[in-house]
Amino acid sequence: MAQTGAALSRRLAQAADTNVDTNVDNDIARVGLGDVKNGGTTPVGTSVYNILMGTEPGDSAVAGYKPPGIVGTKACKADTCCVWWWISQAMTLAFTGPTGRCNSFARAAIRLGFHDAGSWSSSLAANGQDFGGADGSIILSGSEINRGDNNGLQAIANQALLWSKVFNVGVADIIQFAAVHAVVTCPLGPRTRVFVGRKDSKQAAPENLMPSASMSADQIISLFEDKTIQPHDLAALLGAHSTSQQFVTDKTKAGFSQDSTPGVWDVNFYNETIQPGTNSKVFKFQSDLVTANDSRVSDEWHAFIGDQSHWNGDFASAYVRLSMLGVNNINNLTECTKVLPAEKKTFAGASTPGLLGKLR
Ligand code: HEM
Repeated sequence: MAQTGAALSRRLAQAADTNVDTNVDNDIARVGLGDVKNGGTTPVGTSVYNILMGTEPGDSAVAGYKPPGIVGTKACKADTCCVWWWISQAMTLAFTGPTGRCNSFARAAIRLGFHDAGSWSSSLAANGQDFGGADGSIILSGSEINRGDNNGLQAIANQALLWSKVFNVGVADIIQFAAVHAVVTCPLGPRTRVFVGRKDSKQAAPENLMPSASMSADQIISLFEDKTIQPHDLAALLGAHSTSQQFVTDKTKAGFSQDSTPGVWDVNFYNETIQPGTNSKVFKFQSDLVTANDSRVSDEWHAFIGDQSHWNGDFASAYVRLSMLGVNNINNLTECTKVLPAEKKTFAGASTPGLLGKLR
């Protein structure tokens, strides 16, 4: 359905400069979250609220940060983002593979970010179980990491815990920062806005809130709607499988990727998932196939094919939402996007002809 008048012109004008989804089809019923359910009370809270409502972009090119001191010094401690700049240097080394792609550690970090934040439910929260979400409990509870859902995440969880201790920062934050950092380490990946200051929790998240590859589209879509993630945002988030490989789902095909260009944040995944026939080294998740073909998702899925910029902007917005699930002190967070590395806007052999021209 088309929007009219000033609202549409404003959103189109924004979209000319950024990757904001113009939402011309009113595809996403957006709601606030946590302490910004009805708007922010601080500049950061207002920005996050605006991202959640789709009126501010979820990605940003703001860069050029210079740390005021070495990590651990008084000068560095005086600036919340300083330590995150140093963490960023460590993560760039840890997440970049020898060919410039993002490596398996990076990909596990993206999945870890989803698995910590995703274990939250708006209906449970409304019934007094407002825990789980982006609270570090996947590591800190000591039990969540052993759930079947989290198989394969143990090594990156250990690394995230180590980083949190070495740099003396929160576990919930290091998990989300690592996920965002890993995405921008992948060639063509967006620079998602990153916020720190979440509260850590040792309480294990409620069970049965994570999707499995054998679920139906109905099950997946309702599970995500219960996390306030609507079908078009789900379409954008599932594109994370553009970079991924599976190891534990089918052990006889360990290392098989979900499109022909693992480690590159390109839109090949959207096309290849819905094409019949399979590259012999590509392992399609049944969940991706059924979701891609559901009428609530398929229009957006098709819209991402050949349109890297559209997907990148939508992924970043949807990921900011995911990274705020269960966070109830959003007004008090600090934005540290400025410490992230620049996007890698080109990559030889990345994707389809014409793609690079579409990148910002
Ligand atoms: C319906 C929703 C989803 C399902 C059923 C699903 C399922 C899976 C499965 C089965 C794997 C392979 C695990 C293995 O065998 O090693 C995987 C990997 C991965 N998933 Fe998802 N996923 C979903 C959504 C997401 C979302 C929303 C994100 C991030 C925003 C994400 C990011 C990843 C990444 C990066 C990997 C690769 C990990 C690696 O290469 O080690 N997934 N996912």
